[in-house]
Amino acid sequence: MQTDTTRKPFTVPALAEAKHAGRKLVMLTAYDTSFARTLDANGVDLILVGDSLGMVIQGHDSTLLVTVDDIAYHTRCVARGLLRALLIADLPFQSDATPERALDAATRLLQAGAAMVKLEGAGHKLDTIRFLVEREIPVSAHLGLTPQSVLRFGGYKVQGRDETAARKLREDAQAVADAGASLLVLECVPSPLAAAITASVPIPTIGIGAGPGCDGQVLVLHDFLGLDSGHRRPKFVKDFLAEGGSIAGAVRAFADAVRDGSFPDAEHAYSA
Ligand code: KIV
Repeated sequence: MQTDTTRKPFTVPALAEAKHAGRKLVMLTAYDTSFARTLDANGVDLILVGDSLGMVIQGHDSTLLVTVDDIAYHTRCVARGLLRALLIADLPFQSDATPERALDAATRLLQAGAAMVKLEGAGHKLDTIRFLVEREIPVSAHLGLTPQSVLRFGGYKVQGRDETAARKLREDAQAVADAGASLLVLECVPSPLAAAITASVPIPTIGIGAGPGCDGQVLVLHDFLGLDSGHRRPKFVKDFLAEGGSIAGAVRAFADAVRDGSFPDAEHAYSA
């Protein structure tokens, strides 16, 4: 991270403060220094080096081929562009298969400049969340449509639509918070369910295709700029470049829309 004494960095404790104060959190993905600088300078609180890079940067059909080396490389690139935003890095497929593997991978990502790692799922991952948090590694959980589970899901589908699945998601959300996660990404979940989870867990939720009731919103950079990365555009994606007129303008338009609650609207969310 660059140093600038005039801007206060966004820290892990600031996440809980934002939830407590009802301040919406603005998050986007980034993979390089130039975009990181632009996001950082235009009001983004949290920047994710997501394993979505496998699809939007590397051109794969899924995130499953992304390695810790890939995430570490892009984390170093992004970190050099940041003055304020909190940098989160994804633990890629199977790098979190055991707590020990996750510790090795997460240590590398923190040493590359991340302040937090994100991992998908609950179940046996709860031990991993506890293991990392006990070793001073802040963790974001990720539930709902977890792209690393695409083979089991049989595609990229909305999750939590029936009562059994919804109950399981509510239980998992409480469990990741109890295990020590500081943040929870909810992907492709019906809006009422995401709002209920947000109201019940003590940690901030960040929605992507999870409706306006979350504590913040995230989009993948390429989707939010309307770029054609060769994949189907999900319903929740909005092209903010068309609205903002420039990349910096798009970032400001997204940040404003998240903070004033106008994004996502019903057109960009799943009602059930
Ligand atoms: O990899 C990624 O970009 C993500 C977001 C979709 C939240 O996990």
